[in-house]
Amino acid sequence: MSPKKRKKGFQTLTGMHDLLPQIQPYFQRIYQVVEGAANFYGFKKIETPILEEAELFSKGIGLSTEIVERQMYVFKTKGGEYVALRPEGTAPIVRAYIQHGMHNLPQPVKLWYFSPFFRYEHPQAGRYRQFWQFGFEVLGEESPAIDAQLIQIFFNILKELKFKNLVIEVNSIGDSECRPYYKKMLVSYFRAREHSLCSHCRERLRVNPLRVLDCKEEKCQRIKTLAPQIIDHLCQGCHQHFKEVLEFLDELGLPYHLNPYLVRGLDYYTRTVFEIFPTFPEKKKEEESFLPVALVGGGRYDVLVKWLGGKPTPASGGAAGIERIIDLMKKKEIKLPPSPRPQVFVAQLGTLAKRKALKLVEDFRKAKILVEESLGRDSLKGQLRAADRIGVRYVLILGQKEALEGTIILRDMVSGRQETIKLSRVVEEIKKRLKKF
Ligand code: HAM
Repeated sequence: MSPKKRKKGFQTLTGMHDLLPQIQPYFQRIYQVVEGAANFYGFKKIETPILEEAELFSKGIGLSTEIVERQMYVFKTKGGEYVALRPEGTAPIVRAYIQHGMHNLPQPVKLWYFSPFFRYEHPQAGRYRQFWQFGFEVLGEESPAIDAQLIQIFFNILKELKFKNLVIEVNSIGDSECRPYYKKMLVSYFRAREHSLCSHCRERLRVNPLRVLDCKEEKCQRIKTLAPQIIDHLCQGCHQHFKEVLEFLDELGLPYHLNPYLVRGLDYYTRTVFEIFPTFPEKKKEEESFLPVALVGGGRYDVLVKWLGGKPTPASGGAAGIERIIDLMKKKEIKLPPSPRPQVFVAQLGTLAKRKALKLVEDFRKAKILVEESLGRDSLKGQLRAADRIGVRYVLILGQKEALEGTIILRDMVSGRQETIKLSRVVEEIKKRLKKF
């Protein structure tokens, strides 16, 4: 951009945001809850590079998907390779699973991540061009119990973050045995009604007919209600698998909702697919306070390891959008647990006192006691005002006289009592007093 056009100075790119200090407590809280769940359920952390070969995604997610076709940031490097900013985490994790021979490890391999992703989305509420996800992936296990447990993990995390009224949507989209036949039926159903579909869906019918089921346009909604449903056309294996997923969800008492139109936008899915919403999708339009977007999406991807060059390996997983969770936490005014506040303020007056105060702060750090200071300030009045603003219980005052004598003034801000104690004893003394409350 020319400096002439850049009237306001440099700005973040459209759809990208600075994660300012005020947002960090939300990130930290979410990270803490996700990490706790990962440890409990035995997942190991993985972090893959932000840049990958572009072909990893076109092969993994599918060339004709919206993500790959329209939303991927792809560029040619100086070395002539086509690389992409990762739009999602599953294909890179499968790449890592194959590259590092993880099929030789005891199966399943359970991995989790908490990372930034990139999609050239049309910017709107809940859609960013750089966004964060946390995700869980289980590779090497085909049991439907895993699908149910993954849903349970995401549900638990959102519950722990104080979300209420969560709705889990589930569906099965079959596998290579039953889906081609269903697709044919679906295409012939929609072909007969093509003139009534939106232009987007007419295109989808050609490249990705299942996605017509996903369309939110009023006119397409009406047509799809009478469309054949995949659930009625699953092969024996997929039918049994899905039946068991639902039985496990019942056993866990999870509030799921069978959505025959849930197909997901990535080609690697087989059998179970799921999404978690903050409320019923039908209600979302009326209830302005809810964002019309899923918080979590995932499913089984039994074909992906093979597609990317590995041995056939069943797998299942999901990912949650962190900005969407934070936006909603703010909207619903969900409070974060208070972060630990310092109870002690070290104030100083004079050069020698400042030197001793600097050292004293380090003594408190070693003793793991939070302290606040204002070493840049010279006026005692200003420092006491700062202490008052923070609301500490104790203020320690080191003046020129105290610094020379090796003492310090300890003021209890509640009782207003003030006493002079030995500087060498002050950390112990504060420790003792803080233990009392
Ligand atoms: P996805 O549905 O594309 O699935 O994304 C998962 C979640 O990431 C969404 O439910 C949403 O919360 C968040 N998300 C997606 N795009 C954006 C965006 N532009 N801005 C903000 N948040 C966004 C996947 O990415 C799969 N890899 C999930 C998965 C893991 N399936 C199996 N394992």
